This record gives sequence, structure tokens and C-alpha cells, in this order.
Amino acid sequence: MAMLIASLLALSSFLATAHGGNFYKDCTVTWGDGRGKIINSRLVTLSLDRYSGSGFESKNEYLFGKLEMQIKLIPGNSAGTVTTFYLSSQGPTHDEIDFEFLGNVSGQPYILHTNVFTQGKGNREQQFYLWFDPTRNFHTYSITWNPQHIIFAVDGIPIRDFKNLEWRGVAFPKNQPMKVYSTLWNADDWATMGGAVKADWTKAPFTAAFRNFNADACIWSAGTSRCSSGKSRASSPAKKAWWNEELDAKKYRRMRWVQRKYMIYNYCSDRMRFPRRPRECRRH
Ligand SMILES: *[C@@H]1O[C@H](CO)[C@@H](O)[C@H](O)[C@H]1NC(C)=O
Repeated sequence: MAMLIASLLALSSFLATAHGGNFYKDCTVTWGDGRGKIINSRLVTLSLDRYSGSGFESKNEYLFGKLEMQIKLIPGNSAGTVTTFYLSSQGPTHDEIDFEFLGNVSGQPYILHTNVFTQGKGNREQQFYLWFDPTRNFHTYSITWNPQHIIFAVDGIPIRDFKNLEWRGVAFPKNQPMKVYSTLWNADDWATMGGAVKADWTKAPFTAAFRNFNADACIWSAGTSRCSSGKSRASSPAKKAWWNEELDAKKYRRMRWVQRKYMIYNYCSDRMRFPRRPRECRRH
């Protein structure tokens, strides 16, 4: 009996972790001619040299979910490089939710660049410095996308909350399924100090690592959406958590702390670009 219980416990913990992603099962390296490598079920590396970058994407398309990736960024001189983790749909009126990491020369800070496109319209950049060195260890970057919010979080700390303000006439992504993408590419015409600092190819190849992809999400297939709760009872509390997620007072305070201390650009307050405040930025 004890053995049975022990093996059931072992099985249930296996199932719980199997619920986390598996790169072989969930993702495909789509470009880079060998520069993108699935090392094992939990680890992928992407590299960049002067000839090409690389990238992978999820096999599934998702319509709402909590998508999570642990990333360890290029150490040392990463000037001119951009590492990304984003969601995107297809077509000219696509939706997109972006994390982009703009590299820098050794010892200088990366910029975490975020954006939200709805119906093909972006121009909603917010940029941050990080409160840690993102090249020393893996850190968790997540996008919680439910019908009311898109919450960007770093190590569980929310940094941005794009709300559903359709009632104010702001489009919100809710009909177009999106895949997850991660890429590493050369953007030395704009990424580092506005393009002033170029990539140092003598340091190539540049390599970033991605670990523990997790999609607690509704999978879109043949016109219908199957949520993680549909498959097993075990994951339904998890679905409930992200489906209803919003910022409570404590999380809101943490987000405001990050924004006050680490936000370096906010389109909402860029009066040169937007003499009229974008609708989603107006107070009400
Ligand atoms: C790179 O470092 C410079 C100097 O500290 C800083 O101004 C800039 O924001 C940093 N990040 C990027 C991506 O340029």
C-alpha cells in the first residue's frame, strides 16, 4: 500500500511537471541554419553571427493564456543584438505582444522593450532597465493574456498592464490566435544607444539560452479553442488563476515601484510623438 501511494505520488508529480513545456513537443526551430538548437526538452539556445540570427516558435497557436519563458541573455558585449520573446498572430491586422531585450556593451544595462499591437497598430512602447543582471542567470518573463488584461511580468513582478478598454474604442486582442516566438537577431542600426554602438563581430557567435517554456493556455485548433482546464481537472485551478488575473492592490504597488524606478520610456508621456494622449493612456 505504501509503495502504491509512493508511486502514485511520484506519478502525480511527474504529471504536474509534464504539464510544463517540452521544447521538442511544443516548439520548432524555424530559421538560422543550425544556429538555433534544442539542447534537451527544457533548453534551447539561439545564436547570432554576422551572417544570420536564429529563432524558434511554438507549434501551437494560443487564444489567451499564461506564456512563460526563462531566459539567460548574451553575456559580455551584446551591443547591437536583440533577443525576443513574443506572441503574434498572422496577417496585416495582426495582434502582437512583445518582450525585446536590447543588448549593450559590457557592463552597461540591457533595455527591456515592450510593445502591444492590436489590429496591426503598435506604437505602444514602454522600456525598462532591469533590477538585476539578466546575463548571469535565467529569469522568468511571462505574458498573462486574458479577456481583460495583458500583464507583462518579470520574475512574477508585474511591470505593465495593458487593459481591455474596448469601451473607450481601443482594440484589444481577443479573436486572433497567436504563436509564441523567440528570436535573436542583429539590430545594430537601432538597438544600442539608438544605433550608435555596433555589434562587435569579433565576439560572435552571440548566444542566448531559453529554458522551461510553459504555456498554460487555450490552444487554438481548427477554429476552436481548447483550454488547459478542458483536458484535466488538475490544471483547472491554474487556468482559473490566469483567466481571472488582474492586479490586486499589492501587485499594483509592485508594478508602480518598477515603473517609478526602472521605466525609461513610456509612449503615454511622449508628447512629441503623441500631442494628443493615446486613448488607453488617458485617466478617467
Ligand atoms: C546602454 O548603456 C547606455 C549607457 O549606460 C545607456 O544609456 C543605454 O540605455 C543602454 N542600453 C541600450 C540598449 O542602449
